[in-house]
Amino acid sequence: MESPVVVVGGAGRVGRIIVQRLLERRESVRVIGRSVQHARRHLAPGAVFSQGDVRVPQTLATPLAGCAAVVYCVEPGTDDRGPDRPETTLHQGVRNVLAAATAGGNRPQVVLVSQLHATHQGHPLNAYGRMLVWRFAGEELLRESGLPYTVVRPGWLVDDRTAGERVRFEQGDQGTGWVSRDDVAEACVQALYIPAARGVTFEIFNEPGPAIPSWSEAYGSLVWDRTPVGLT
Ligand SMILES: NC(=O)c1ccc[n+]([C@@H]2O[C@H](COP(=O)([O-])OP(=O)(O)OC[C@H]3O[C@@H](n4cnc5c(N)ncnc54)[C@H](OP(=O)(O)O)[C@@H]3O)[C@@H](O)[C@H]2O)c1
Repeated sequence: MESPVVVVGGAGRVGRIIVQRLLERRESVRVIGRSVQHARRHLAPGAVFSQGDVRVPQTLATPLAGCAAVVYCVEPGTDDRGPDRPETTLHQGVRNVLAAATAGGNRPQVVLVSQLHATHQGHPLNAYGRMLVWRFAGEELLRESGLPYTVVRPGWLVDDRTAGERVRFEQGDQGTGWVSRDDVAEACVQALYIPAARGVTFEIFNEPGPAIPSWSEAYGSLVWDRTPVGLT
């Protein structure tokens, strides 16, 4: 890529793996997060950190200016009201980031980390500030943005491989299961380089079995959300 990739939430547990993998690919990487201390502790040298909050548009303009791609992996608050309710990061934050990233006619590729059950509005998780309502609303903003995008819905995140080495993609939001943060991060990175990953929404889980031989094949097995413009 010719211009930077911005990882919003890039000092987080999924985000910092994404940052590391992008740096290994010699990409120019910018990270947005609220905590400088958190960034100092967790970010690989080489990433450029900008203190910013997705709820505060004026903190986003500079780090997102002219970016080639954005990966959004922000953990929401769970309050019922106030600034830490899920709506502020899962919906307003996505809108603020898309607005800053597209300033001046820029058209970045965007990968959004969402979650399983985003379409299950009756799920108990929705008791936390209507989290799933806002997850889905944030996804919809991106799907309707006209930008090249990928929506990744991880299963329950774990830091080990107890759920298995094999990655399983699903569509339709019917499944459940665990997935390693490592595989979610790799799926996000791969989505930036594999054309078949554009215009899709999918769930990702681990299961027993060998690691998948090809991310391109896995992405190639997915059905587009809508027929991409120019490929009717
Ligand atoms: N836990 C699960 O089982 C599960 C399942 C499916 C999906 N997910 C989702 O997967 C994503 C990645 O998870 P994770 O484990 O990597 O989360 P994490 O370790 O908590 O990292 C989240 C990052 O979000 C940043 N952040 C939070 N609020 C922000 C704001 N207002 N503005 C800018 N940055 C903000 C945090 O940085 P600062 O604090 O420095 O701002 C942090 O670096 C999250 O969206 C999570 O909800 C989780």
